[in-house]
Amino acid sequence: MSLPDFTNDIFSFLDKQDLPNNIEAAVILGSGLGGFADQIQSPSTISYHNIPGMPVSSVEGHAGELIFGEIDGRSMMAFSGRFHHYEGFSFEETATPVYIANHLGANKLIVSNAAGAINTSFSVGDLMVIESVIRNNLAISPLGNQRHRYQHHQWVPKVRNIAAQLGLVTQLGNYMYVTGPNYETKAEIRSFRKMGADAVGMSTATELFEAARLNLKSTAISLITNMSTGVTGEKLDHEEVKIAADARKEDFAKLVKALIEKL
Ligand code: HPA
Repeated sequence: MSLPDFTNDIFSFLDKQDLPNNIEAAVILGSGLGGFADQIQSPSTISYHNIPGMPVSSVEGHAGELIFGEIDGRSMMAFSGRFHHYEGFSFEETATPVYIANHLGANKLIVSNAAGAINTSFSVGDLMVIESVIRNNLAISPLGNQRHRYQHHQWVPKVRNIAAQLGLVTQLGNYMYVTGPNYETKAEIRSFRKMGADAVGMSTATELFEAARLNLKSTAISLITNMSTGVTGEKLDHEEVKIAADARKEDFAKLVKALIEKL
C-alpha cells in the first residue's frame, strides 16, 4: 500500500525503539481531550519533536506526544496532538497518526474530535458517533485517485451499544469536514444542514479515509463543544471548546476505555 515518503524517516526511527508489538488500539485525541492520556497505565512517551519526519502541531490544547501504555491490561497507543490542514500541513501529513498506528500493527483506530453542532436538537457536551463524513472539498483524500471506501460506519451500532451499556447517551450524525481555520458563516451552516450535516469540524476526515484505505478498522466520536455559527447567536471561540471538553472528559474516557476493550 503506497504511503507518503516522509513516513520512511518516522518508521525507521520508531522501528529502532523498544515498542510493544501487540497494540490493540490507537486513539487520536481531539482538541481539549488530551487529558485522556492521564488514564494510560505504565505510559512511555515520545515527544513528536524527537521523531524525525514527524509534523509538529502548534494548536493550543494539543501536546504533541505519542504515548504507549495500557488500559485495563490492553496494550494501546495514543496520539496527543494531531495535525490540521489549516496549520499548513498537507492532507497526507494530517493522516500521519494513521500511518504510524497501521505500521505498528494496531488492530483498531479510535478517532476523537471537538465539533460544532449543526443539528439544532444537539446540545453542547453531547457525544456524537460519526456515521459518515461529508467532504466539503472532495480532494481531501491523500494519494489522489485511489478508490477506497470509508468503512468505519460498520461499527456504529456497536459503538452506540457499548456507550449505552455505560449509561451514556450518544447522538448519531454526519460530520462535515471544513478546512478552517476560520469558523463558518451562518449561511454556510444553513447550507451544510441542508446537505445533511449534523456537526462540523476541521479534522478527522483524512484520518478516517486513510484508515479505510489501509484496512485499519476505525470509529470516530465528536464531542460537541459549541453550537455552530448562527444556531444560538453567540460568538464562537476556542475557549469554549476547552470548557466543554473538560466537562465531559470523564465520560469520554469511560467510553474510549470501553471501546478499547469491547470493539
Ligand atoms: N466549527 C468548526 N470546527 C469546530 C467547531 C465549529 O463550530 N467547533 C469545534 N471545532
